[in-house]
Amino acid sequence: MAEIHTNGDSKSSFKIPEVKFTKLFINGEFVDSVSGKTFETIDPRSEEVIANIAEGDKEDIDLAVKAARAAFDHGPWPRMSGSERGRIMMKYADLVEANIEELAALDGIDAGKVFAYGKIRDIPFGLSVLRYYAGAADKIYGKTLKLSNQLQGYTLHEPIGVVGHIIPWNFPAGMFFFKVSPSMAAGCTMVIKPAEQSPLSALFCAHLAKLAGVPDGVINVVTGFGPTAGAAISSHMDIDCVSFTGSTEVGRLVMQAAATSNLKTVSLELGGKSPLIIFDDVDVDSTVNLALMGGFANKGEFCVCSSRIFVQEGIYDEFVTKFVRNAKGITVGDPFDPSTLQGPQVDKVQYEKVLSYIEHGKREGATLLTGGKPCGEKGYYIEPTIFTDVTDDMLIAKDEIFGPVIAVIKFKTIEEAIARANSTSYGLAAGIATKDLNIANTVSRSLRAGIVWINCYLAFDADCPYGGYKLSGFGREFGLEGLHKYLQVKSVVTPVHNSPWL
Ligand code: NAI
Ligand code: MG
Repeated sequence: MAEIHTNGDSKSSFKIPEVKFTKLFINGEFVDSVSGKTFETIDPRSEEVIANIAEGDKEDIDLAVKAARAAFDHGPWPRMSGSERGRIMMKYADLVEANIEELAALDGIDAGKVFAYGKIRDIPFGLSVLRYYAGAADKIYGKTLKLSNQLQGYTLHEPIGVVGHIIPWNFPAGMFFFKVSPSMAAGCTMVIKPAEQSPLSALFCAHLAKLAGVPDGVINVVTGFGPTAGAAISSHMDIDCVSFTGSTEVGRLVMQAAATSNLKTVSLELGGKSPLIIFDDVDVDSTVNLALMGGFANKGEFCVCSSRIFVQEGIYDEFVTKFVRNAKGITVGDPFDPSTLQGPQVDKVQYEKVLSYIEHGKREGATLLTGGKPCGEKGYYIEPTIFTDVTDDMLIAKDEIFGPVIAVIKFKTIEEAIARANSTSYGLAAGIATKDLNIANTVSRSLRAGIVWINCYLAFDADCPYGGYKLSGFGREFGLEGLHKYLQVKSVVTPVHNSPWL
């Protein structure tokens, strides 16, 4: 366990910057909330307050929507050429890149994310998404239609309007760009609500958007809580589309609110209980490392976490021994310490939730092979935890834990692996490890999940659509699918010569 520092005086030479932005960002200005209320954002390393953040509520969402609506109806953003939007987005990306350490540090203090991963992996991926959609902004076009009865037509792909983005806390800066980039490219304007646990980087990103020349009102950020500010987005009569990432429970509420307000379109990226299926023919050592990454990356706080690892019986014992040995080697500690691989869980609620699942696992009769306890004197640190003897009906095999807790499950046949992997209400991601092409093909086509990784895991790409089956939600992020949900298709029809219409 590394020493926990709270003031930037960590073992790395990096100095944690001051928090500069704590207010709502509406119509290009940082403003207090209408109520004047603030909430504390807490450092999960120390459990201490980092800053007081403006607490937005319904009235603030109304103001942000007004600004976004005016920018959409009258502003330059939807009207400028796609290439001009793309140029501003590229400039935005360069500015984000120039400030990447500050952003990674904000997510480190706010959400306990390992600084080095933020800097070299998570935020660069968010940036690749921003640049991908910057490149797509001038490639939005419809079809030409040859119709019956001497009619011809064409389709226009128009921006859907004002978008509400509701963002969780596990990839605060990265996910900001997953959400914002395609809707910007489409020509939409937007209101973003970051999670109450991790508001800092979104406010900094809003500031950078202004510096990049994004017109006022295009990007508005309202910090605040889910049942107030978040719910005001999903039920708003003047928001045309809501994009939500978070729990299945809240995803249902968002959909209900959309249904009973203005029928805004909805896309939901929800939780998962993703299987990684490992067959007898693999190289055990490298597959152990794959499974460690799939299970313990980002302290298990990621929706595609391979929290159920199915291992075929022939290599099961060897795999478990090595997996446990390597999991014990994961250094848990301050996210700014260069030797740290796992930081603290995001907040007290998540920390207690994960510990309670561990207790459930023990009570239900699963065997705890390593971990299972908090670590450190303060902060929300939990040891990487591995259970075996897990049956499919146990809570730890069914629920998304969202922490560093993995169930390793033995299987015999390919049919059994497919059936058990699919025996979950979720369907976000899945992994397969095998050298056998027939097995890989059969299993990948049989799994009900939105993305299947064969001999890799967490292999995201801006050009690869990603989203859920079943209770993991619907709608896709990334790829051109991720752009199209922010576009409306308008058909224009007209008669041509000799048409009975003329
Ligand atoms: P959550 O679903 O409550 O929060 C996600 C976002 O939704 C936050 O911005 C929150 O303020 C907002 N929100 C909450 N209630 C809302 C409402 N009534 N209307 C509109 N927006 C609302 O997730 P939470 O409580 O932070 O975490 C609970 C569990 O959800 C986690 O343990 C994990 O299992 C899952 N989760 C999944 C994520 C994913 O990446 N798919 C991300 C975060 C959480
Ligand atoms: Mg919640």
